[in-house]
Amino acid sequence: MVDSLKELYDLSGQKVLIIGGSSRMGLEIARLSTMLGASVILSSRSKSKLDAAIASLPEGVTTYAANAAIEQEAAQLLQDLAPLDHIVVTASSGTSASSIPETPSEIAQAAFSRFWMSYHVLHFASTVMRSSGSITLLSGSSGRRPVADYGVWSSLHGSIDSLVRPAALELAPIRVNAISPGGIGTNARSPISSPCWTTC
Ligand SMILES: NC(=O)c1ccc[n+]([C@@H]2O[C@H](COP(=O)([O-])OP(=O)(O)OC[C@H]3O[C@@H](n4cnc5c(N)ncnc54)[C@H](OP(=O)(O)O)[C@@H]3O)[C@@H](O)[C@H]2O)c1
Repeated sequence: MVDSLKELYDLSGQKVLIIGGSSRMGLEIARLSTMLGASVILSSRSKSKLDAAIASLPEGVTTYAANAAIEQEAAQLLQDLAPLDHIVVTASSGTSASSIPETPSEIAQAAFSRFWMSYHVLHFASTVMRSSGSITLLSGSSGRRPVADYGVWSSLHGSIDSLVRPAALELAPIRVNAISPGGIGTNARSPISSPCWTTC
């Protein structure tokens, strides 16, 4: 399967940064990108998580610890790694937000750190990326189909979808897209054991 994928997506010689790459979706994207020939850098806040993550990947993957929600740290990360071919942002917000009536604004603002991580990448992209490159963000299906008791996440996901559309026009020819998953399980080491509405 990798061979047939490689005919379509040969990433040999290309540099891929995965922000949030130390677990689940980011880790699997790292694994596949490496198999397709990319030079992969995983980034997240925790150095120990990053060290554990690369232990499960082929040799050659490197790491960079940074908090992408802080503008200066995101800028430094991107400048230090430039020029980049592809950036994927799978970082989560790590809060327990739920419905709009029940979620205090402080928690909702913490949830929206994911919007700002995405914004920081788009804001600095034109100076740190090759023009043939791509940026992939993660939103979520609740942005289009609201779910009761999940209002903060629905509005966050909708905001990321709305961010991507003008960014694709403004950053062209760099390609900008969002993946909008529903609740999905990932790898066996760190399963999502109940529906996403209550766990992420
Ligand atoms: N899984 C689902 O069903 C689902 C559904 C819809 C949308 N999504 C979204 O899809 C994305 C990927 O999901 P996932 O389950 O693979 O994510 P995840 O494993 O929960 O989180 C990915 C990584 O983000 C890193 N992170 C958190 N805050 C960060 C920050 N400020 N700066 C840099 N890295 C940070 C964390 O590492 P550190 O603690 O080391 O920073 C963590 O390893 C997430 O944004 C999630 O909300 C997931």
